[in-house]
Amino acid sequence: MSETQGKPIQCTAAVAYAAGEPLRIEKVTVDPPKAHEVRIKIVNSAICHTDAYTLSGSDPEGLFPCILGHEGSGIVESVGEGVTNVKPGDHVVPLYTAECQQCKFCVSGKTNLCGAVRATQGKGVMPDGTSRFRNGKGETLYHFMGCSTFSEYTVVADVSVVAVDQQAPLETVCLLGCGVTTGYGAAVKTADVQEGDTVAVFGAGTVGLSVVQGAKARNASRIIVVDINDAKREWASKFGATDFINPKTDLKEGETIVARLIEMTDGGLDHTFDCTGNTKVMRDALEACHKGWGQSIIIGVAAAGQEISTRPFQLVTGRVWKGSAFGGIKGRSEMGGLVRDYLNGTLKVQEFVTHKRPFEEINSGFEDLHHGDCLRTVLSL
Ligand SMILES: NC(=O)c1ccc[n+]([C@@H]2O[C@H](COP(=O)([O-])OP(=O)(O)OC[C@H]3O[C@@H](n4cnc5c(N)ncnc54)[C@H](O)[C@@H]3O)[C@@H](O)[C@H]2O)c1
Ligand SMILES: [Zn+2]
Ligand SMILES: [Zn+2]
Repeated sequence: MSETQGKPIQCTAAVAYAAGEPLRIEKVTVDPPKAHEVRIKIVNSAICHTDAYTLSGSDPEGLFPCILGHEGSGIVESVGEGVTNVKPGDHVVPLYTAECQQCKFCVSGKTNLCGAVRATQGKGVMPDGTSRFRNGKGETLYHFMGCSTFSEYTVVADVSVVAVDQQAPLETVCLLGCGVTTGYGAAVKTADVQEGDTVAVFGAGTVGLSVVQGAKARNASRIIVVDINDAKREWASKFGATDFINPKTDLKEGETIVARLIEMTDGGLDHTFDCTGNTKVMRDALEACHKGWGQSIIIGVAAAGQEISTRPFQLVTGRVWKGSAFGGIKGRSEMGGLVRDYLNGTLKVQEFVTHKRPFEEINSGFEDLHHGDCLRTVLSL
């Protein structure tokens, strides 16, 4: 039993007080876990675009003050009453997509979305409606995406955490908490790419490049990456893309990216993926699909208020539009398989860590996201 069990812990966290302001590194108090809750000592956390999106104020549901971060890894410090899936000392990854294994969604066999903690998670609190975080003045701080990994200690619901093989380095396994799993799962689960299929991936960030590795694992015959940043050309080929197109420089006069892709693939692609969050790109991705069966998967998160559009005829003639959250992966039952693939060398994870920083440099880590050479910045807490 740890000395801290059952007691509040004072530790350092990066607190988001208001949209558009830098995070403040300060002492916070993290209350002990209640029933069906787990307190985790966070060891590493990466910074994902969704953290930046909420911090920027673009997220209409963003709540402040809060502790952001949802791509983390750590060690269980203590557990509340009734927790059976993890124990103190376990290496774990927090899950922003919970898996209770009991709700209508979980038992449907049709989706990885889970209804168990959705309502309270969206309100920035634990399932009992309260927060486990306070700042030095005693003010309540909100949780974020059920994870809040930008804190030396955090508390999550037991349905929102999975134990992972201790051989997997925490410094890299944190990326399975969002970006890598999202892209890889979108290819192998949501789209279920088959051997010989053709694939186009729009946007070669961590998510898009992970779609590429999923398509490659399935032996897709052609994997075309589309990105407006030429620096992504090399990354794309490293992860298994067969072609790269920069629509800003590689198209002929008057040629559209849709026309080019249709020409390259004899009528269109079997699967396309939007990993940009740009709704115009989403339309192109749909329209580049093959008539009769091509399917386009939306992964990117669009800015508030944006809507997608296309001519209904595109769907009437057999193209399919789908979305994917966390790659369709059920965190508690399927994370073990991804960690195994990582450890046996079939899933690249380490390769996405382009930057490493101490926790105190978290605000510079957010700056890294704006640079074309950054896939992921991993913070050490
Ligand atoms: N659905 C989910 O569960 C989920 C999970 C994680 C992230 N996301 C979202 O997925 C998206 C990608 O995340 P990421 O971390 O890989 O982001 P990223 O910013 O690292 O990558 C985006 C890439 O898209 C490229 N791009 C931008 N505009 C483009 C355009 N018009 N045409 C072609 N390429 C363009 C950029 O150059 C960049 O390489 C984001 O919108 C993120 O919020 C969704
Ligand atoms: Zn994320
Ligand atoms: Zn559930």
